[in-house]
Amino acid sequence: MKQYLYSAALLILAAGCASLSPQDRLTVNDKKINKIIAQMTLEEKVEMLHSKTNMSSEGVPRLGIQDIKYTDGPFGIREENGDGFRSLGWTLDSATYFPTGSALAATWSKEMAYKNGWAMGKEGRLRGKDIILGPAINIQRLPVGGRTYEYLSEDPVLSARLSVEYTKGSQDAGTAVCLKHYALNNQETDRGSVDVIADERTMREIYLKPFEAAVKEGGAMCVMPAYNKVNGFYCSENAHLNNEILRDEWGFKGMTVSDWGGTHSTMGAALGGLCVQMTGDNYFGQALIDSVRNGALDEAVVDAKVREILRLRFAIDPVPEDVANTIMTSQPETQKIAYEIAQKSIVLLKNEVGNLPIAKDVKKIAVIGQNAVLTTAAGGIGAGVKTLYEISPLEGIQARAEKAGVEVVYAPGYKNYQMRMGWGRPSAGPVNPLVANSIDEPADPALLAEAVALAKDADMVIFFGGTNKSIETEGSDRKNIDLPCGQNEVIKALYEANPNVATVLISGGPTDLRFLEPYSPSIVQGWWNGLEGGTALAEVLFGDIAPSGKLPFTFPKKLEDSPAYALGNFGQNASEDLFTLMYRLDATGYTREQIQEYIANLPAPESHYTEGIFVGYRWFETKEVPVMYAFGHGLSYVDFEYGPLTCKHKKDKFYVTFELKNLGDMEADEVAQLYVKRIDSAVERPLKELEAFDRITLKGGETKKVTLEFPVSELAHWDNETNEWVLEHGKLEILVGSASNDIRQTIATEI
Ligand code: BGC
Repeated sequence: MKQYLYSAALLILAAGCASLSPQDRLTVNDKKINKIIAQMTLEEKVEMLHSKTNMSSEGVPRLGIQDIKYTDGPFGIREENGDGFRSLGWTLDSATYFPTGSALAATWSKEMAYKNGWAMGKEGRLRGKDIILGPAINIQRLPVGGRTYEYLSEDPVLSARLSVEYTKGSQDAGTAVCLKHYALNNQETDRGSVDVIADERTMREIYLKPFEAAVKEGGAMCVMPAYNKVNGFYCSENAHLNNEILRDEWGFKGMTVSDWGGTHSTMGAALGGLCVQMTGDNYFGQALIDSVRNGALDEAVVDAKVREILRLRFAIDPVPEDVANTIMTSQPETQKIAYEIAQKSIVLLKNEVGNLPIAKDVKKIAVIGQNAVLTTAAGGIGAGVKTLYEISPLEGIQARAEKAGVEVVYAPGYKNYQMRMGWGRPSAGPVNPLVANSIDEPADPALLAEAVALAKDADMVIFFGGTNKSIETEGSDRKNIDLPCGQNEVIKALYEANPNVATVLISGGPTDLRFLEPYSPSIVQGWWNGLEGGTALAEVLFGDIAPSGKLPFTFPKKLEDSPAYALGNFGQNASEDLFTLMYRLDATGYTREQIQEYIANLPAPESHYTEGIFVGYRWFETKEVPVMYAFGHGLSYVDFEYGPLTCKHKKDKFYVTFELKNLGDMEADEVAQLYVKRIDSAVERPLKELEAFDRITLKGGETKKVTLEFPVSELAHWDNETNEWVLEHGKLEILVGSASNDIRQTIATEI
């Protein structure tokens, strides 16, 4: 692999500092940096601590030190924007749209996460960027979460492993990552003011784990404190999170940059571990200079921030102006990576009668549903991608069907809901007959009749349902996980017209499938899957490749079953989203100061994480709540046989070995998952927890020996009394299988 060779070369280069931890490597220039700081004026230092433009912060021009250039990720390098995220209309800034977070996580592939990071880093360099604002690695706590599509998983181990690889990949390609949103930014509702109340064990074992791993193992150079508060303090001024945990415990040596508009004070943020205010300079500008001059703040605090920024500046080579943006951001090499991820992410949820892959005698397919033609690279609120191209599911199917001599007909089937971005002003222009006024609008009789007619006359129906970018979006959470715009009515009518139906769900998060299930003999989770998503999907549907994605989160039967809802601790009486609010106030003539004052006076609702560590499958399994599709679930076109386990405990690691056989006659990947169950533990724990996994490719009939390993330290729990990690000794059971609810082999052992 070219990138692995590249990374190997870097390793050799880094051999001189091989004994240093990934974070300590950032300090190799400290002597030089200290000399630079000694030459700087206070004004020059403070100039570095706030935005210069919407996506940059100042270097030290007098000393020839370049500005730092940021770009949004995490699933594509964002188009070039001016103030207020207004497009600059460049022509070479079309980037690769990569599968979004939940799709990447559905690959359960460390290699894919590395490649994704590497490709982002590579495109970042082409655009002259130093830092990618990503990966976004918050835990998917709520099925309705507006950014579930962007985040990776409900499980900290899966999220951690993939975050480490993404981080390494991007930084190996020369662009720093900025882990976001640190921390506990698990809801969009009131994200700008909500105070998350969580106990230390819950934070350490669930929500902080991916950040800890990406900092310690991945060597992440930048971290973005989130909008919300945690236990009383805004993340941008949360000394416990930023100083005690991130820097003192994890040894972070890089810089922090607040989420855009997420800085709230001068002294609080200065002492609470923030380096750069994004955006604006009302806190980290003159006010910071004054605080030092009047003796309230020690200049050494400012120096420490400058030092952390310069560490990143010296670790990442600035791209010369005349080199950046000379060729298109999206390149065939990186497009291919997006394609590969998409191929491995698609999850076959159900294949009851085996109507997938599409049978050879199917000569006419009716593709129904607007989600077959919708593009997902951009739209909604937040960072989208101006993608170079995007193959929709319908285009993918049409191209593949043509090769097989299969006819494809299409009907929209239902209207789509689209967010109105007019902030109260009714949008002008003709009414679009395919756009619904509300998410709950029932099926349109004419569209339904047209779809049913096509279904009757076809050999097979492929129904495309799910959400869209207006429904799952930054800035708000969904009100429920129901399929929108009468999709349930449509699938029922289609099935009654032609029961040979396969359903494909195009969404980033889970949906309520209780109604749809009986009318869908097969169901595929197709995600928001990047610019080659449609091609990859068609390959799976036609059986060119076997589906091999596994769910990175649980599909509950109903929303109310999920922990935060079951415990009644997620309220949705949201005030307006912080980001849209800032936009709106700006557009209506508020000054920056007035906007800040408005934000400072927002009410601060609390979100109590009383479910504690029982997030996702940890909750459903322990409380014995049945689910629709379990965490880790995903079928293939072949069966796999798991041989008996052997378990070795050497030094500080467990090694679990078994044989895995592909019982089918086509090549297929299996994601083997290892869970640990503690026996007779004195500590409250989930029924079992994921500790290791691997993706294995097997030819038809092939058997491979597989070893899954994990460090013993992963079995420690956080003790809230003593405030430390504690390794409880005792018996445990190791469970290995194809999904959290499909365990094939177990072995007893102990620590
Ligand atoms: C988002 C971040 C993003 C930033 C800059 C914020 O609203 O929360 O994820 O990186 O904007 O676009």
